[in-house]
Amino acid sequence: MAAKLKKIFVCSKCEAQFPKWLGQCSECGAWGTIAEEVISQNEKEGLEIQAGNVTEFSQVKIEDYPRFKIGLEEVDRVLGGGIVPGSLVLLGGEPGIGKSTLVLQIAEKIQNPVLYVSGEESAGQIKLRIDRLKISEKNIQFLGETEINTICATIEKYKPGLSIIDSIQTMFDSNISSSQGTVNQVRVCTGKLLNTAKRIGTSIFIIGHITKEGFVAGPKTLEHLVDTVLYLEGDPYHHFRILRAAKNRFGPTNEVGVFEMSEKGLKEVKNPSEIFLSQKEGEVSGSVISVVLKGTRPFLVEVQALVAKTFYGYSQRRAIGIDFNRLQLLIAVLSLRCNLPLSNFDVHLNLVGGMEVEEPAIDLPVCLSIVSALKNKVIDSKIAVFGEVGLGGEIRPVSFTRERVREAVKLGFKKIILPVLREKVNVPGIELIEVSNLNQAIKEVLF
Ligand code: TYD
Ligand code: MG
Repeated sequence: MAAKLKKIFVCSKCEAQFPKWLGQCSECGAWGTIAEEVISQNEKEGLEIQAGNVTEFSQVKIEDYPRFKIGLEEVDRVLGGGIVPGSLVLLGGEPGIGKSTLVLQIAEKIQNPVLYVSGEESAGQIKLRIDRLKISEKNIQFLGETEINTICATIEKYKPGLSIIDSIQTMFDSNISSSQGTVNQVRVCTGKLLNTAKRIGTSIFIIGHITKEGFVAGPKTLEHLVDTVLYLEGDPYHHFRILRAAKNRFGPTNEVGVFEMSEKGLKEVKNPSEIFLSQKEGEVSGSVISVVLKGTRPFLVEVQALVAKTFYGYSQRRAIGIDFNRLQLLIAVLSLRCNLPLSNFDVHLNLVGGMEVEEPAIDLPVCLSIVSALKNKVIDSKIAVFGEVGLGGEIRPVSFTRERVREAVKLGFKKIILPVLREKVNVPGIELIEVSNLNQAIKEVLF
């Protein structure tokens, strides 16, 4: 067996490979992202390759995965009911969002010993955080190491119930010459952790930083290697954080957990809708409450619009929390289908609490908040609204109607404006007003 070393050049952004160095990646256009990597190829010259064994599906038994609950309800739910022993979980998020805090809070809850491997912070810094979080440290052991083979050997020796790798970008394999944080290193290190997790049946949480572009610092390939990918997201200017599963071999990917970053770490938010409603002093025009979904979970969120006459040149549009192009489109629909003179007005739109919504159910509330602001008429704050708006001004149905209605009832709403129902929804204590077009919806809430 001859080990052959080969040099290639890899873009850390899009992972394109080149035979020679380039200043700009010709695939994704990024500058200065191409670095040299050495790959060794073990060529099995002259060896006879054996065929593998195939299995009939009729012989395959379906097993339920054994799991253990962490005891943090929001995390357990996102994981699909708890941690599966032997699983490799990637926790991604922007720097400073609270990943290290979350894993420490998870570590505290676990009965078996937890090994915290950090390449970013010293034992002292982590102890400071443990003290700040006021959690018990007796269960948590620390290893300040970045060499992956040493880390895997330590995990094999101590066999902890859970190991935490903070973060994968600081780890390296001394057998590979490329530097820390490169695509190759991150991938090889993750592969080794995966082997260890499967061999001894221990679970490993890997923390990965995401850059602004949304990649786990280059290697998207990590997502294929691990069993579960979780993202901790949020707006750094607000306190709430959403934990969601982007991939889960052992459970659903549509669950989300909601937390609030407090002085003493992340607190589970049992009633998330309350954060996204503003604490209003009296009633103002331009404000509409909507019920949107994150995963399969309904949230109440307040849409606020400000509409002012344009003085110079083009009218301005601003959107915070919804897609700018979607706002432009909805303004065009309102102008044409409802005869509103919006081309002479500036429109500013905001979702309260730093919430971001991509689903079309927010269309109708956005339209109604604009009309409310334009006409300076208040919409009753006990009304909730959701529905997609089509280009003809028609209101189209959205998914999970029943769940949305229930959430609104739970928070004391009395009336819901929604698309025409295909199936009857029986929820007592609420008046459902079905609307089929924008003009009808405007009439219902404003006149
Ligand atoms: P951290 O977990 O270090 O983020 P990450 O590992 O994702 O980079 O947390 C970062 C922020 O959280 C930091 O700005 C301080 C804040 N924080 C709190 O507000 N309360 C707390 O109890 C802790 C531990 C941190
Ligand atoms: Mg950290």
